[in-house]
Amino acid sequence: MTQIIETEAATPAYLPSKILNGAAREDALAMMARLISHTKNKTTDQAEATYQEPVENYLDEELFASEIELLFKRIPLPLALTCELPEKNNHKAIEVVGVPVVITRDSQGEVHAMLNVCRHRGALICAAGLGTSRALTCPYHAWSYGMDGQLKGLYGESTFGEFDKSERNMIKLPCVEKHGVIFVCLTPGLEIDIDSWLGSFAPILESLKLAECHLFSTRMMPGPNWKVAIEGYLEGYHFASLHKDTVFKTNLSNTATFDGHGAHERVAFALREIENHLDDPVDTWDPTANVGTINWLFPGLSIAGGWRQRMAVAFPLPTTKVNESLTEQRILVRTPITNDEREQHELEVMRDWFYDVTYDEDYITGFGVQKGVAVTGGKTQIFGRNEPGVQYVHRTINRLMHEGAEAVHGSDTSKAVLPRIVSGQ
Ligand code: FES
Ligand SMILES: [Fe+2]
Repeated sequence: MTQIIETEAATPAYLPSKILNGAAREDALAMMARLISHTKNKTTDQAEATYQEPVENYLDEELFASEIELLFKRIPLPLALTCELPEKNNHKAIEVVGVPVVITRDSQGEVHAMLNVCRHRGALICAAGLGTSRALTCPYHAWSYGMDGQLKGLYGESTFGEFDKSERNMIKLPCVEKHGVIFVCLTPGLEIDIDSWLGSFAPILESLKLAECHLFSTRMMPGPNWKVAIEGYLEGYHFASLHKDTVFKTNLSNTATFDGHGAHERVAFALREIENHLDDPVDTWDPTANVGTINWLFPGLSIAGGWRQRMAVAFPLPTTKVNESLTEQRILVRTPITNDEREQHELEVMRDWFYDVTYDEDYITGFGVQKGVAVTGGKTQIFGRNEPGVQYVHRTINRLMHEGAEAVHGSDTSKAVLPRIVSGQ
């Protein structure tokens, strides 16, 4: 039996990879150059000015309902990863802002998304989580649907009576698989233009090679308001204080790059290892060992550890309550997962470490923020010039809410509830 030796506090090993080449390597080297400069000069990427967000934007029930209608039900949501449905006849059921969704891969390998709702009398068809089946069968009276949502058969059909079966297929949702991510729009009939949506983020997503990864684990984690939750992913200003015994052991604090790409963004932190290479020649640099990236797909798919062998992919989503979110946290590996006892142990350490850091440190703090904003009505949160990623996401939410309002209400957006902004922004 392999002897497992615990390291102190069981910090997961950061394993570099060889996946970077061509333009992606050039891009990563440019980011590493910025981080080396920041490390030498004790600087970090900065926004032009500080930014304020009214606390009501985290509390207002009407605004929250509007966020669901104008954002979450209109934009392409990254609801699954290719590696969660790697085989034909796999499916994944998930509830998103109160909407039950099932995503399938059919016997031809094509993905589909449907409302996870039976067209007989509305029962939920698939239990939450991952599964494999040739058909989706409702547990209530056993109506059965193909993996594309078509009604195939019903129990006791000769006794049921006449109806048009073609009118009783599961309700399809727009769905696109791209670069290892499966995007779903919660409104039937809306089109997903994935190339426009990803824009200049597409080559970054492609470079991560998520489609070739393997899923080790998934855990669900309750959190505070979705905007409070996502803010924690997009800055490294809090590492030295909130994460002093965890993230700060491997990452420098307040030393980061920021790049916006349409609705999406990338924040990269200097790993402590970079301090050993500040004067090394560029052709010896390994960004996979020195740069910690958060590749972030709006409205919140956080891909941490980008090019490394092992990654943590989290997605905080609102529930149906303004002060709650639910995060799906997954651990991915680039090579097929074996039964090797040491590998299993290391992956369990990584899974538990990410869960504990995110929940015990970020989200417990976030629950506190939620209480804090509730008693400071009329006031604002302030984001520093050194928190450009968080500023960017609030501006993006504001922009997309206005675009959603125009799409729904036309030019008269006064009917829509939109985020309050501080005058002068
Ligand atoms: S509700 Fe699904 S079979 Fe009756
Ligand atoms: Fe954090």
